[in-house]
Amino acid sequence: MDFFNQYYIYKNRINKKLSDTLNTLPFQESNLLKAMRYSIFSGGKRLRACLVYTTGDIFKVNMITLDVISIAIECIHAYSLIHDDLPCMDNDDFRRGKISCHIKYNENISLLAGDALQSFAFNVLSKNFMPGVCDTKRIKMISELSSAIGASGMCMGQMLDLESEKKEVSLSELESINLYKTTFLIRSSIRLAYLSSNNTSKSVLSILDCFSNSIGLAFQIQDDILDFHDDNLKINNHRILKKKTYPSIASLNKSKKKIKELYKKAFLALNILKKDFNISKLEQLTQFIIKRIE
Ligand code: IPE
Ligand code: IPE
Ligand code: MG
Ligand code: MG
Repeated sequence: MDFFNQYYIYKNRINKKLSDTLNTLPFQESNLLKAMRYSIFSGGKRLRACLVYTTGDIFKVNMITLDVISIAIECIHAYSLIHDDLPCMDNDDFRRGKISCHIKYNENISLLAGDALQSFAFNVLSKNFMPGVCDTKRIKMISELSSAIGASGMCMGQMLDLESEKKEVSLSELESINLYKTTFLIRSSIRLAYLSSNNTSKSVLSILDCFSNSIGLAFQIQDDILDFHDDNLKINNHRILKKKTYPSIASLNKSKKKIKELYKKAFLALNILKKDFNISKLEQLTQFIIKRIE
């Protein structure tokens, strides 16, 4: 099967699982639930969920376990985007070509929808059945995800990103911002899939981390290049002009060169795993992510 088909299988699967799981919550007709659904189902690529499924596939993790991890990760991702777009953050009126959650449901409901998605993610991860995952493993996974998104991860990255609007930052400082705000959640998607498996090798985990760091940083630069070319965004959101990004600090050419270097590093890391594991799906998913910019 080519990876394009595989991608749609994973994408449809996670969409169905997210829908079923959100259906278990009370007050389905409330604005809170509507805002949560609006952000979850407004056209995300589900790349983090695909990373969970493809990594889990390498280490023979049960699909039901991977569903639970993917739901948690996609809920955290949706929460992060709702808050990222708020007027006090990036002040973006649009997300994925549609009006942002706070434009549709107001700031107060959006703030709560983000909060509720975050706690829902941890509720699912702590409670839902995960075949093959004992309680000790489950606690490790919850601990990993909570570190990746809080003051030692994504929230710190978001703060550094906001502060960078007011000052000069070097390329290495920018790399650190991108590592915290974007890469740690991507790395956590891969780590959680690995932690849920029967493999315990620390060296495999550090190779996977090297892969995650490279694709995470490349992914943020790709995202910034797409914004850089988006004239509508620049007209509608003056804040974007103050943002420190790879293409705004270095040049477009340098950014593209950096992306290539990072993907080369990612493939080198995967190559090390090749002798013991079948990593072809993860290689194909990486190629698929690269295509986003070509
Ligand atoms: C956007 O992530 C935010 C970044 C961290 C760059 P995605 O591009 O994965 O978002 P969706 O869910 O597919 O819209
Ligand atoms: C989003 O980063 C990162 C998080 C939400 C944690 P950006 O602000 O650069 O991404 P877009 O361009 O709004 O998707
Ligand atoms: Mg932002
Ligand atoms: Mg933003």
